Amino acid sequence: MSPPGRAAHALDLDRLLERCHEHTWRLSDLDFSRPPQALPEAQEDAVVQYLTDFVYIERMAGSFFLALQDKVGHPVVRQILQTFVIDETRHAHAMQLLADHFDRRKLRIYAPNPWIVRLVQRLEEWIRVAPPDAAATAVTTGEICFDVAYLKPLDEHLADPTAREVLRLVHRDESRHLAIDYWLLEWFGTADYQERHPPEPFDLRAEAELMVRYVRAFSVGFPFMRQVFFGTNARLDQNGARLRDAAKRIQLAMTRPGIRGRPFVRFYGAVQAIFDSPVLGPVVRRGFATVLGADPTLFKTQYTDAERAHVEGLSAHELAVDTLAAFYPE
Ligand SMILES: [Fe+2]
Ligand SMILES: [Fe+2]
Repeated sequence: MSPPGRAAHALDLDRLLERCHEHTWRLSDLDFSRPPQALPEAQEDAVVQYLTDFVYIERMAGSFFLALQDKVGHPVVRQILQTFVIDETRHAHAMQLLADHFDRRKLRIYAPNPWIVRLVQRLEEWIRVAPPDAAATAVTTGEICFDVAYLKPLDEHLADPTAREVLRLVHRDESRHLAIDYWLLEWFGTADYQERHPPEPFDLRAEAELMVRYVRAFSVGFPFMRQVFFGTNARLDQNGARLRDAAKRIQLAMTRPGIRGRPFVRFYGAVQAIFDSPVLGPVVRRGFATVLGADPTLFKTQYTDAERAHVEGLSAHELAVDTLAAFYPE
């Protein structure tokens, strides 16, 4: 049983719940009366498609928090997660409004990438039955990669006052989400949680169902990553710096003292050791990169010893602030 991590206890959850209610905003606060930045036809088409896909990225983040509510076993955090579901629904609506804002020429009727729609449903199915720490790891990874990392490059790419206003408000909500993402990573390993929720006895049928749901999610995750995550996002991140930063933040989250010994994190560490191995590493990295359409160096350890030492001393809240400042410098 892991000892309670410092970070898990450094977050004032009652205060955070108050902030969830105080810091909310409404779609009616936004001003869509200004005309959008004029874009060439091909660029307008790409931007509207990207924002249409982003609606489902936000829905995916909402489904993560919805699925976690029944697992969390903490009444205040459950209420916080309920506010996050509302936040992500608002983000999805805001992205749709932004898509409509840029859709000046009405070139076609836009539909989300079909792999995203399938992935949203299948990830939620998997998270509902997954071990809590695996679910928390997936949620933190998904939030950093999909929900947070590209807000700033998108803002810079669009260079539009309405988009900037929307993305800043979305970003402000993400500081609360990430603080809880980091907190949850540690919470499921604490003695407090484990005493209240002892592991269920081994059940072959439940394990088989878990594996089926995992494979179903994974099978649609690959084409989604290839087409949307590594494909479309590459236009916003031409030297790949943002992607490497996202990978680094996820890797650093896994090194924190409160979660290091957890089974899913040990599995994650073993996979990372293969990626970093001088013999097997180059072959495995190239294989993954070819399937996903990504840069092979992305799968190596991205952080330095100094960066690892830096995040060890931070609370979940401080780590969220640190991550967001790196991704969205004002
Ligand atoms: Fe979001
Ligand atoms: Fe979020």
